[in-house]
Amino acid sequence: MKILDNKVAIVTGAGSGIGREIAISYAAEGAKVMVSDINEKGGNETVRLISEKGGEANFFKADSSSAESNKALVDETVKRYGALHIACNNAGIGGPMAPTGEYPLDGWDKVIAINLSGVFFRYAIPDTGYAGCR
Ligand SMILES: NC(=O)c1ccc[n+]([C@@H]2O[C@H](COP(=O)([O-])OP(=O)(O)OC[C@H]3O[C@@H](n4cnc5c(N)ncnc54)[C@H](O)[C@@H]3O)[C@@H](O)[C@H]2O)c1
Repeated sequence: MKILDNKVAIVTGAGSGIGREIAISYAAEGAKVMVSDINEKGGNETVRLISEKGGEANFFKADSSSAESNKALVDETVKRYGALHIACNNAGIGGPMAPTGEYPLDGWDKVIAINLSGVFFRYAIPDTGYAGCR
């Protein structure tokens, strides 16, 4: 018996780096993993790495900065696996490197949209009353 047997997980930003390793670790512990990223190639590579070790994973392209995209990700995960137990909102960016006085506003908006709003979008939380959650 593994610690995540019969659990379903979403990992955002799982097309590379830390998110990929989290997705691989969850799958190795028995979870079914919905690998999500805006980078389709990287996401599919993560799924391949999980599958070759006998794990269960699928890729769903979603933009963490978009509420609609987050909702679609949760909906698709519940539809495919019948449940959702773990949401790892890992997707994030470093943003531009610049002094505050010169910091580009569009760069600021992007960092806030992905790193903050992407975590706030709460479709995976059951007590929001959102029907897609289990
Ligand atoms: N690596 C570090 O030292 C470090 C330190 C502090 C925090 N973090 C945070 O940890 C997380 C992962 O970092 P990492 O080093 O693995 O970064 P990474 O750049 O390797 O991976 C981030 C992934 O997020 C994806 N992504 C970017 N924008 C997205 C969006 N709008 N929607 C969905 N996916 C998107 C990218 O395609 C990429 O696959 C990030 O949130 C990062 O800010 C990392």
